[in-house]
Amino acid sequence: MTTMMRSEIAEQPAALRATLDALLPRVGEVAALAGQTRQLIFIARGTSDNAAVYGRYLIEARAGRMSSLAAPSIATTYKRKLDLTGVLAVALSQSGKTEEIVETLAWARDCGAGTVAITNGGEHSPLAETAHLALCTQAGEEKAVPATKTYTTQLAALAVLALGLGAEVDARDLDRVPDAVEQLIADPGDVDTVVEGLAEVSGVVVSGRGMAFSTALETALKLKEACYLHAMGLSYADLLHGPIAVVDERTPALLVAADEGPTLPGTVALARRVTGAGASAYGVGGGAELAAASTASLNGPALPEWVAPMGLIVPAQILTEALARRRGIDPDSPRGLNKVTQTE
Ligand code: AGP
Repeated sequence: MTTMMRSEIAEQPAALRATLDALLPRVGEVAALAGQTRQLIFIARGTSDNAAVYGRYLIEARAGRMSSLAAPSIATTYKRKLDLTGVLAVALSQSGKTEEIVETLAWARDCGAGTVAITNGGEHSPLAETAHLALCTQAGEEKAVPATKTYTTQLAALAVLALGLGAEVDARDLDRVPDAVEQLIADPGDVDTVVEGLAEVSGVVVSGRGMAFSTALETALKLKEACYLHAMGLSYADLLHGPIAVVDERTPALLVAADEGPTLPGTVALARRVTGAGASAYGVGGGAELAAASTASLNGPALPEWVAPMGLIVPAQILTEALARRRGIDPDSPRGLNKVTQTE
């Protein structure tokens, strides 16, 4: 059985190519709007919020500007004005129609922020029309409720944003992303073993750090919404401050890392600690080192750390889709969820 989710996962190389082709020529526009920015706030919900976490780490670590995630309730529930002069507010929404996000971006604009919309909803979507600058992703229509191609193309748009903010990265790394994703779709690693390992568990801890933290959060969200699995996504730093106590033979860990970078050694050490305690640790990415320390593993992209999240999520999406079917769930239409969610 081919699900829409599986087809949309396979469309990601083309979606990423189209998005990068459309947005890379616009780096100068981002620079013109955001050159004087001292701080960024990201506004988003769900998968888009997980993409924002990547944006936050990328902009702080590579572009040296403080970044945070906005609490939309300050704008929409408490209706409190803040001084946002010198701030760039970046709203992400695949649909471009989530009212809370549109309202919060309008609030940020009223408060004096420069505003950017990252959306797959097109330039006439409510979100794009609210922003000073719209970076429209080119994922095509996404029908499955679990976001896949709209997420990875949001990450690509955030990479373009980072270039506009003068990030210290090699922009040519982006050219390698679509092919790396294609390779992962062809060979995602030992999906069958991980599916069987998660088929009957009561919960799973999903952890990563730094740039890969966003992948851990997004993997956990996918497993919750499409597999009805109690999946807890958190940074491995936070995991060690208490939550690791839940890991046991019925609660494995899924550990995510790029094949290179400063968070890989900590992730490998965590895998050894988990397996040493008698629980299963499933690796996602992390190269040969994480694979050797894990019970079984999924492949990651052969990409530098800053662009790796665009590929790292792909084997986790493939795992989610296969696990949903193994658990008797249609991943395209999880219970009680719609493609666009309104908070109130
Ligand atoms: C994604 O898998 C979810 N279905 C959901 O979290 C979604 O990302 C969220 O509702 C946000 O929607 P938006 O990006 O269209 O604003």
